[in-house]
Amino acid sequence: MTVPLLHERFPAIVGRLPFRRLGTAPTPVRAVAGLSGVWVKDDGGYGTLYGGNKVRKLEWTLADLLRRGRRTVVTAGGTGSHHAVAVARYATAAGLRVAVVALEQPYDDHVARQAAAVRATGATVRRVRSVPAGYLAAGLLLARAAVTGGRPGLLPIGGSSPRGCLGYVEAALELAAQVASGELPAPRQVVVPVGSGGTAAGLALGLGLAGLPTQVVGVLVNDQTPMGEPQVRRLAEATARLLRRSGARLPAPAPLAPLTVRADWLGPGYGLATPASTAAAPWLADHAGVHAEPVYTAKAAAALRDLTGAEPGHGPVLYWHTADDLHLT
Ligand SMILES: Cc1ncc(COP(=O)(O)O)c(C=O)c1O
Repeated sequence: MTVPLLHERFPAIVGRLPFRRLGTAPTPVRAVAGLSGVWVKDDGGYGTLYGGNKVRKLEWTLADLLRRGRRTVVTAGGTGSHHAVAVARYATAAGLRVAVVALEQPYDDHVARQAAAVRATGATVRRVRSVPAGYLAAGLLLARAAVTGGRPGLLPIGGSSPRGCLGYVEAALELAAQVASGELPAPRQVVVPVGSGGTAAGLALGLGLAGLPTQVVGVLVNDQTPMGEPQVRRLAEATARLLRRSGARLPAPAPLAPLTVRADWLGPGYGLATPASTAAAPWLADHAGVHAEPVYTAKAAAALRDLTGAEPGHGPVLYWHTADDLHLT
């Protein structure tokens, strides 16, 4: 599938919201073994150079940077940011220079691998200790690129601009097509990690547009920047406004799916494992055949385990796997 479903549904946006396919869609859905009514949508392998949810956002943001003639991308994330790796790989492959502001996070093997993957692309990396220092570093990188003819463009933390969120509006329409073709029942809930909020925001808008009776259960993993239901909802509404401004005929207010963001599995903070997340990773591998990394998917897996254990048989629940530890780096 090369033409995005959003372009098929809203032909008027094609010239204004360009798209560059970076992975193979649709990603697989399958029933989770031994757990009745639990399904997984496996975005872990989405992308040719690097897999996962960050690639879906880049399909829209990278296409836009290239269309606007940008030559440098400045972005930010944790030291082990998957977004930073995805930007560094795909933007470099598209001929752009990349500069990353890397905010210190608890260091482990996983983070070290991600940081090395960014450096290996030749990207400029500025390490900072606080969010304000990160804003300053990003400003300096943008200014330097501008005065040296680098024609910079900015991608926010996690790629969660309204344009980036289109990646998960698209992914929700993809899921709706899989439901319509009988691959899985319409889920009652979709469980997904929440970092910068764009994945959950895009899903809330996309599921709403698709008319699915599904609640988005966002599993908060981030305590570094303010993030919760109001922020995710605002991002979804901003994404709807972007679509409308670009020519899509969308009802107002935007039809968002019900959304909850829960901090119950965050534990001591971003990047810090909990007993539940440590136990959930092998549990997920056994049942669903996918491999959680520690920062995002292991905490979403802990949520899935608790929610489906507490309410067994209570309607189809879909776990949205946003990156697979086996495919990272
Ligand atoms: C593997 C993985 N899952 C989920 C998320 C959360 O997505 P978002 O930042 O869109 O909330 C991220 C990034 O932050 C991620 O790298």
